[in-house]
Amino acid sequence: MHRDFLAIPDFSAQELRELFQLADAMRAGTFVGHPLAGKSLAMIFMKSSTRTRVSFEVGMWQLGGHALFLSPRDIQLGRGEPIADTARVLSRYVDGIMIRTFAHAEVEQLAKYADVPVINGLTDLLHPCQVLADVLTVRQHLGGWEGKRIAWIGDGNNMANSWINAAYRLGFDLTLACPEGYDPDPTILARGQTTAMIRVVRDPAEAVDGADVVNTDVWASMGQEEEQERRARAFAGFTVTSALMAKAKRSAIFLHCLPAHRGEEVAADVIDGPQSRVWDEAENRLHAQKAVMATLMEDTAQD
Ligand code: CP
Ligand code: NVA
Repeated sequence: MHRDFLAIPDFSAQELRELFQLADAMRAGTFVGHPLAGKSLAMIFMKSSTRTRVSFEVGMWQLGGHALFLSPRDIQLGRGEPIADTARVLSRYVDGIMIRTFAHAEVEQLAKYADVPVINGLTDLLHPCQVLADVLTVRQHLGGWEGKRIAWIGDGNNMANSWINAAYRLGFDLTLACPEGYDPDPTILARGQTTAMIRVVRDPAEAVDGADVVNTDVWASMGQEEEQERRARAFAGFTVTSALMAKAKRSAIFLHCLPAHRGEEVAADVIDGPQSRVWDEAENRLHAQKAVMATLMEDTAQD
């Protein structure tokens, strides 16, 4: 029996705590095993990537295994071979599949037909590996998420939806400031609000007021490039500037999943300033994903 990681709620709160402990040990260098020796991870990238590609590939190697980078130019998926067939074939060769693609339903279909764990490396709906790393960064710098106030400024996109999922599982306070028409997914939001204090507001200053963490992302995500100009107009006033940061707690940290557009969603003096933790955040992708892979793939016997 194998497990997938398509969304943060695939893990219970207790399992998430254990993942963070394992990731901390990996960052500290106290975890030195090679639990994935002899195992392989297929990495399907239908969109570009720097962090996800490198952190999964290096992470797999550090755990004793091996990773294959598969782009649509290289594999038959790019020429229309069905996802279900790709899933069944890859499952005969590898011990896990990481996929980054557009429609979330494609990842669900891959997971349905694969006999090995499937890990979501970003869809239009969710980016769970990134938010796992983000919460790990909050833990690293603020000692934990309990009682913390997290502000999200900008698009109600895959990152925002995953932050809502994290709040749903872990119960921290989350306020999202999104322009009208750019709200997070309503189903994910409604579920999140059943267990956590999650609000959507229109004013970035209201979201940031007294926050412990200020978090943003690009205004046009991958696949939305042609909407760039319209979005730049809609997101006017949503730039995270030092004036906006000044409304958060003095101890507040700034996060951004990267890549960033300085002068658009974030001012250069914020992302490159003393409150920014974006490089630790990027590093934490490696530790968080190694913890996920070790947890999901260690005991998976290949059929
Ligand atoms: N944050 C993130 O997922 O970066 P990449 O697109 O470079 O993988
Ligand atoms: N929301 C962004 C995140 C990139 C890591 C995108 O989907 O392009």
